[in-house]
Amino acid sequence: MSELNKIALKILSNGKGILAADESNGTMTKRLDSVAVPSTPENRLLFRETLFTSEAMKKFIGGVILYDETIKQISNSNKAIPELISATGAVPGIKVDTGAKVMANSTEEKITEGLDGLRERLKEYYKLGARFTKWRGVYNITKKHPSELSIHSNAHALARYSALVQECGMVPIVEPEVLMDGDHSAEDCFNKTSKVLKKCFEELMLHNIDFSGIILKPNMILAGASSDKKISNEETAKLTLICLKENVPTEVPGIAFLSGGQTEVEATENLNLINKHNDTNFIMTYSYGRALQQSALKFWSKDIKNIEGTQNVFNHRANMCTLAAQGKWSAELESQ
Ligand code: 13P
Repeated sequence: MSELNKIALKILSNGKGILAADESNGTMTKRLDSVAVPSTPENRLLFRETLFTSEAMKKFIGGVILYDETIKQISNSNKAIPELISATGAVPGIKVDTGAKVMANSTEEKITEGLDGLRERLKEYYKLGARFTKWRGVYNITKKHPSELSIHSNAHALARYSALVQECGMVPIVEPEVLMDGDHSAEDCFNKTSKVLKKCFEELMLHNIDFSGIILKPNMILAGASSDKKISNEETAKLTLICLKENVPTEVPGIAFLSGGQTEVEATENLNLINKHNDTNFIMTYSYGRALQQSALKFWSKDIKNIEGTQNVFNHRANMCTLAAQGKWSAELESQ
C-alpha cells in the first residue's frame, strides 16, 4: 500500500468524512453576513476553532480542508491550527486553487486558477502539516454548457494540480463540481457529469496520477435547483452510483461528495441511500461544507461565546453524516 493510499484511507475509513471548512474569505464573509456576524479574522477563527475542538472531530471527522488564512492561524489555546486538528486524529488539508475565474472568450464559464507557483506553495503547506489538498473545477449546465472547452481545460488543470500534489507527498482531492443551478433535468445532470468525469480521468491518466492516492469529490446526480422535474432520493442514489461506476477507475479508494446547496438532511439522506445501494468497492462518504456547518453557524451566531451549544449542534450533524456514510442513518435519528 502506498503512503498516499494510506493517507486517503485514514481520512475516509470507518464512516469518517471530511469537514470542508475552506471557504475563501469572500465566501466566508457571505456566510457570516447571512447570520449578521462581522467577518473578521478573529470571528472566522473562533467559529472554525469551535468546530475543530468538538467531540465530533475524534469520532466522525477524518480530515479538515482549511483555507490559507486558517492554516496559518494560532488557536486560542496557543496551538497552530494543523496541530490542533492532528491532535484529534483527523488529517489537516488545504484548498490550493485560487478560485474559479471567468474564462477568456467565454463569459458564462469558469476556469480554476492557481497552478503558477503551486509547487512552492505545496511545500510550504506540507511543512505546516497539510497531508491532503483540494482543487475545485466548476461547470454549469445550460443547453450548450459545459462546453468542450470548459470540460477539457478544467480537467487539464485538475490533472496538473494532482501531479504536483502527489509529487509533494500529499493526497489530491479532485473536485469537478457540476452545479445544481438551473432548471435542467436529472438526466441532463447525469449525462454532463459523466462527460466531465470521463475527461477528468483521461487527463489524470495522461499525467500519470496514482489513482490509489486520490480522493474524488463529485456532485450527486440531481435535477437543477429550479427544475420542476425533481427525482426521488432513491433515484438520485441509483443514478449517482451508475455514473460513478461507469466513469471512475476502480483503483480510486474513495469518493467524498460535496453537498452543493442541498439541505443538511437531503445531503445526509442521499448519502445514506448511496451507501445502502453501494455495490462498488469505493468508500462513499461526505466532504460537506454547508451541509455540515449551516445549523452550527446559525446557532453560534446567536451567541458566539456559546462554544458548547454550537459544538452539540455540529456533533449531531457530523454523527448523522457518518451514519449515512455507513448506510445506517434514518430520519427518526434526526430528532433524537
Ligand atoms: P458544499 O458541501 O457546501 O458544497 O462545499 C463543499 C466544497 O468544498 C465545495 O468546494
